[in-house]
Amino acid sequence: MLIAISNPKTLSPSQILYTPKLKTLIPASNQSKFKPPINKIIRCKFNRVIEIERGLHFDTGETFFRHESATGRDLGVLAASLYKQVKGNLRLLDAMCGCGIRSLRYLVEADADFVLANDANDSHRRVVLQNLSQVERGSGDKKRWAVTHFDANRILTHCYLQRDFFDFIDIDSFGSDSSYFFRSAFTSLKLDGLIYVTSTDGYSSGGHRPYHSLAAYGAYVRPMPYANEIGLRVLIGGAVREASVLGFHVTPLFSYYSYHGPVFRVLLRLNRGKLTENRNYGFICYCTQCGNSQAISWDKLGQIICPCTEDTDAASLVVSGPLWTGPLHSPTYIMEMLNLAQQWGWVGNGAGTDLEQLLKLMVDESDPRLPFGYIKLDEVASRAKVNSPPLRTIMSAIRKEGYVASRSHIASNAIKTNCPMAKCIQIARELDCC
Ligand SMILES: C[S@@+](CC[C@H](N)C(=O)[O-])C[C@H]1O[C@@H](n2cnc3c(N)ncnc32)[C@H](O)[C@@H]1O
Ligand SMILES: [Zn+2]
Repeated sequence: MLIAISNPKTLSPSQILYTPKLKTLIPASNQSKFKPPINKIIRCKFNRVIEIERGLHFDTGETFFRHESATGRDLGVLAASLYKQVKGNLRLLDAMCGCGIRSLRYLVEADADFVLANDANDSHRRVVLQNLSQVERGSGDKKRWAVTHFDANRILTHCYLQRDFFDFIDIDSFGSDSSYFFRSAFTSLKLDGLIYVTSTDGYSSGGHRPYHSLAAYGAYVRPMPYANEIGLRVLIGGAVREASVLGFHVTPLFSYYSYHGPVFRVLLRLNRGKLTENRNYGFICYCTQCGNSQAISWDKLGQIICPCTEDTDAASLVVSGPLWTGPLHSPTYIMEMLNLAQQWGWVGNGAGTDLEQLLKLMVDESDPRLPFGYIKLDEVASRAKVNSPPLRTIMSAIRKEGYVASRSHIASNAIKTNCPMAKCIQIARELDCC
């Protein structure tokens, strides 16, 4: 079992640690996951800013903290709580805890048995301790939390070497750094455990730094119209590849893009078994001439052909990968999250929250008949040389033609559909004439 240590340069479990006596920011009885509002800020008498998220009060000090990430934290807490309900246990490692808000929420809302809150920056220590001290720390087998300050790889590797495995690991990193932590995280995660990873690298997903994405995730990414979905797929693909090295595979339970940042977050489940042929790990090809996309398997590289042209490898074909080409979410899992959010009063009863909208969109876009990517209505309009059709109108026209269509949580003026671009163009023209 790890204990809190104050010196980031050493990792000796025998060091005991300074535990300052700090006043709690709010009485424990006032903490409740049933309190719906996400963000509020109040000033305490020393003019310090105290944040409130889901009814929990906390200080952010000088740490990196974004209000906009509250929905990402909600999703993590729902997933962690579902895990605890099913498995009965929840040992969690918050590898980049910042001010410790996630750790606090995992303890209070997901009822985690133990949370190790780690952040490489030891100047965050006071604030993390103060925030977590709202939950009784406990001791021995009943210890609920500890705080450390190590590089995430170091703490993850240490836990692996100690055979101190976790049920849930949260890695809230910057840029495309997460790829750097995959391997050590997988080794310290229990089988069937969950890992929640983040990327904020919008340049790579946009295809503007192909060699950077190649270095980070092993994927050469070129500009494509559904770049932000590519960002999620590259992140999952990188995890798939790293897991495979260790003889594991990962499956995405949900994938979440938010334009604040931008932020790409995925929750993955780890299981035994390497990559095999049909593991949805391959290439995606977009044709700039006709606007259609297709998934390409490894054995078809060099033979890529679009129905709009006779040429293989025509200049109009843009290929990215290898990346994840399979489903972004498990629809049953999202339904479970939605039900739990409903029980907690986070959605429903007129709450009308972003979270509710998001989870419902995720359910819609999980239809297994829908391919990867999305079609921006502006692209349809520009190819059809008409005004952009209203989203609901074109979706219902597409459905009337027997295709599947849904909105995308990633892009508001876009649709996910199995309707080919040529047919979308025809429909847009017909709508324009009405
Ligand atoms: C995005 S912030 C975390 C925000 C926090 N999880 C939240 O929800 O408010 C990333 C944090 O990672 C820490 N960090 C950066 N590199 C790290 C590393 N290699 N190991 C551990 N922590 C690191 C930073 O000090 C920073 O506090
Ligand atoms: Zn084409």
